[in-house]
Amino acid sequence: MIRVLFVCLGNICRSPMAEAIYRNMVQNKGLADKIEVDSAGTALWHSGKPPHKGTRAKLDEYKISYEGMTARQISQEDFNTFDYIITMDDDNMKNIESEFEMSDSVTVKKLLEFVDNPRELNVPDPYYTGDFDYTYELVHEACEHLLEYIVHKHQI
Ligand code: 4NP
Repeated sequence: MIRVLFVCLGNICRSPMAEAIYRNMVQNKGLADKIEVDSAGTALWHSGKPPHKGTRAKLDEYKISYEGMTARQISQEDFNTFDYIITMDDDNMKNIESEFEMSDSVTVKKLLEFVDNPRELNVPDPYYTGDFDYTYELVHEACEHLLEYIVHKHQI
């Protein structure tokens, strides 16, 4: 099983959006028994809460399930459990690099690093921008590239 964890700050806007989109893509490609998906936040603030209404609205628009998803904070254990920890921006990177010990078995990268010539280097936070459409567009595009990357790399 290949395990992928998406990480943002609050785990209510961007990383649950990525989790739901990615899981949907994985299921559509018949890879649900090969790739497991989760998300977490660097902050504890929203622990136990469902995705933000803006994220839910975009996922509803595309009929992508977020059933049962609730926010949680990332922990050291995640660095032993997951093969890929995929962050949304430089702040997430700084936070996890300063708080956790990296293990050799995990690849830690920003989501938009998987896109050639990306429009942005960091996924804008719609909690502040209010623009869930643009964030969805960027996350969706990058998730397609991340899935291609993993399928190719692991020959699945
Ligand atoms: P996220 O966005 O990191 O994409 O989930 C945020 C959610 C909540 C807060 C900040 C960013 N907050 O300050 O509560």
